[in-house]
Amino acid sequence: MGKDVIVACDFPGKTETLAFLDRFEGRKPFVKIGMELFYAEGPDIVREIKARGHRIFLDLKLHDIPNTVKKAMAVLSRLDADIVNLHAGGTVAMMEAALEGLTRPDGTRPLLIAVTQLTSTDQKAMETDLLIREPIDQVVMHYALNAKKAGLDGVVCSPLEAQKVHEACGEAFLTVTPGVRFADGEIGDQKRVMTPAEAKRVGSDYIVVGRPITASDDPVAAYERCLREFTD
Ligand code: C5P
Repeated sequence: MGKDVIVACDFPGKTETLAFLDRFEGRKPFVKIGMELFYAEGPDIVREIKARGHRIFLDLKLHDIPNTVKKAMAVLSRLDADIVNLHAGGTVAMMEAALEGLTRPDGTRPLLIAVTQLTSTDQKAMETDLLIREPIDQVVMHYALNAKKAGLDGVVCSPLEAQKVHEACGEAFLTVTPGVRFADGEIGDQKRVMTPAEAKRVGSDYIVVGRPITASDDPVAAYERCLREFTD
């Protein structure tokens, strides 16, 4: 499990996404489908990419009352994604309900991971908007422990937090980490970044990489470089 590169397919629609994946010819990268693509194309986009042989991380970040999330997760589990996610801020009860909804009658289920605090939320926003006064790294760790307590498989976090999450929640608890850039690449709007090799060194299980691959002139070469740096 883990040690793979997940390509964030942040495209507006099916045409652009499939044209992008076609460039990989025989290769089948692990694909992340987010809200934009899912809301534009509906569940069929998941079925279609899955049918082409890709593994899928369905990044929809559910957050609602436990019963609603449980029922939504039951629907998502029928799409056969490999990883789905939710917000840990929805409480342990919501995460437990999600896990229940996600589990199929035969006992199988996609991996379920939690978003702790979004990286767009900083200490100031947490204090003033959410009235959470503890240091943000403690909040992230508390949410990760809640996810573990609820029986989830891991968290989405910054590679800078991966080591601490593993220390607190165990090596088998997955860390799925965006915010990855090549040493010689553009950072864009990501604030705190690591290279694929550094992410490997701190123990990330999966790295989620978007623009360094999708915006590259040669996405396949960029993907292979990423894979090489992260797994060699
Ligand atoms: O293009 P880039 O490599 O920055 O893409 C990273 C992907 O990971 C995007 O789909 C972004 O929404 C997602 N993500 C993130 N930071 C988080 C959670 C998700 O960058 N904290």
